[in-house]
Amino acid sequence: MERELPGSGMTESILPERKLLYKGKSKSMYAGNDDRTCILEFRDSATAGNGAKKAELEGKGALNAEISHILYKYLEENGIETHFIKMLDDTRMLVRKVDIVNVEVIVRNIAAGGFSKKYGVPEGTPLKNTVLEFCLKSDGYGDPMMNESQITAIGLASQEQLETMKDMALRINSLLYALFDRCGITLVDFKLEFGTYDGRIILADEISPDSCRFWDKATGDKLDKDRFRRDLGDVLGAYREVLRRLRDA
Ligand code: C5P
Repeated sequence: MERELPGSGMTESILPERKLLYKGKSKSMYAGNDDRTCILEFRDSATAGNGAKKAELEGKGALNAEISHILYKYLEENGIETHFIKMLDDTRMLVRKVDIVNVEVIVRNIAAGGFSKKYGVPEGTPLKNTVLEFCLKSDGYGDPMMNESQITAIGLASQEQLETMKDMALRINSLLYALFDRCGITLVDFKLEFGTYDGRIILADEISPDSCRFWDKATGDKLDKDRFRRDLGDVLGAYREVLRRLRDA
């Protein structure tokens, strides 16, 4: 039996046969119906330390897909162009096919994680200004940090594209910070990826507890992938809590 996926014009049994374009650590990208779209699947796989630690967390894919869906819709409503088109089912979304810019953009409001480790700034220290970092998107080289002249020198992005990415990253930060604040959550830091579509830079990838640090404003509890990285337990409970609060916001 084939089940028609609401509004997608596709049937469920067709989706799994689609050509796998790319399999990342927690998401897979499949060919869409045409060369303008792809199907992004959020899987249950969790990894940390560049794949050194691995687990399957049942339901994580659906939680991250729905959280990303809510955040993409919110950003689109506020003038940020994203790759999101529509949900196909619980774990799969139809997205615009972009040429990914192989640069990860990290935005930090509070010192934590890699920043604290690298620069000896205690976790939780508020930053006097928003920090923007660029990293090469490369598991093989461990995502090393890059400066703008390095990025333009090897043609990963033009200076104009970098300016657009910086401007969008700061606008996304303001929008998300305000939204999470209403949810009783501090947006500590997060990672973005961009791609080009019709020559424009648009937001790609995901925005989820896998790619952000969320701290409960009242208790300081971590509501993100640090629960997995640091063996704090109840990873999915934290992800569910983020989704519950976003739905109520
Ligand atoms: O590890 P670090 O402190 O540099 O991470 C900053 C933010 O970027 C965190 O929210 C982390 O989850 C996210 N990140 C990511 N993917 C990476 C590197 C960092 O989602 N490859």
